[in-house]
Amino acid sequence: MGALASLKRFAGPEFLREAGRVCCAKLVRSSLALGLKRRMERNPIAASRSSFLANFLRDPCGTGALAPATPTLAASVARVTHEAWQAHGSRLKLIELGAGTGALTRDLKRMNPVLVERNEDWAALLRTRFPGLEVLNECAADTLRGLREPVGLVTSIPLLNNPQSNELKSLLQQAYADGVLRFCVLYTYGLRDPLAGSGFRQHRRASFVPRSLPPAHVWVYQ
Ligand SMILES: C[S@@+](CC[C@H](N)C(=O)[O-])C[C@H]1O[C@@H](n2cnc3c(N)ncnc32)[C@H](O)[C@@H]1O
Repeated sequence: MGALASLKRFAGPEFLREAGRVCCAKLVRSSLALGLKRRMERNPIAASRSSFLANFLRDPCGTGALAPATPTLAASVARVTHEAWQAHGSRLKLIELGAGTGALTRDLKRMNPVLVERNEDWAALLRTRFPGLEVLNECAADTLRGLREPVGLVTSIPLLNNPQSNELKSLLQQAYADGVLRFCVLYTYGLRDPLAGSGFRQHRRASFVPRSLPPAHVWVYQ
């Protein structure tokens, strides 16, 4: 009896159909990811922008932006993060939550951040763009729940109109109260303090970046 026939007898046609469907979906995803990787190698800015737009159209609240952070915004976030990181002794583990296609990571990488990204294709892309950095393809809520050692955070996960924002805010508040979250830098396109009332002793708008689409504010909490 051939291998396929014995497999059919053993697993049944339903199982084989489902396995075939899963394999095809994986194949499509990996060729899309490969296409993105190749486009990123040729023209990273254009490839990141088109990938962002596609994801925004699919999930506007989770993606949070039509395009990745501009270089000016990335430089501003990195400067504020570096100041906070140095103020905590330059040894603190840094985590970037929602690293996307790596627009901020390029400027943060001297602080050796751990990258967290929920989107599977972008996590794969981050692994190829930043081979020296640890990349976790998971939800930021799980990362925050699993914190056991002191960290600094930098994030741009949208907290406006995001169904997860209350959960993320209370996890940040808890991590800070437990002493594992030492500082948090975040950028937002909104006008208000995105973590108002979250229990941070210090919170300030560290910079306003008009050369960003839309203009952005960088906040620091500690
Ligand atoms: C506004 S984009 C910023 C991306 C990148 N940091 C930048 O500045 O270009 C927000 C990113 O957070 C990711 N994200 C949203 N919710 C998330 C979650 N719960 N866990 C992990 N990543 C998340 C999105 O996939 C997206 O890459």
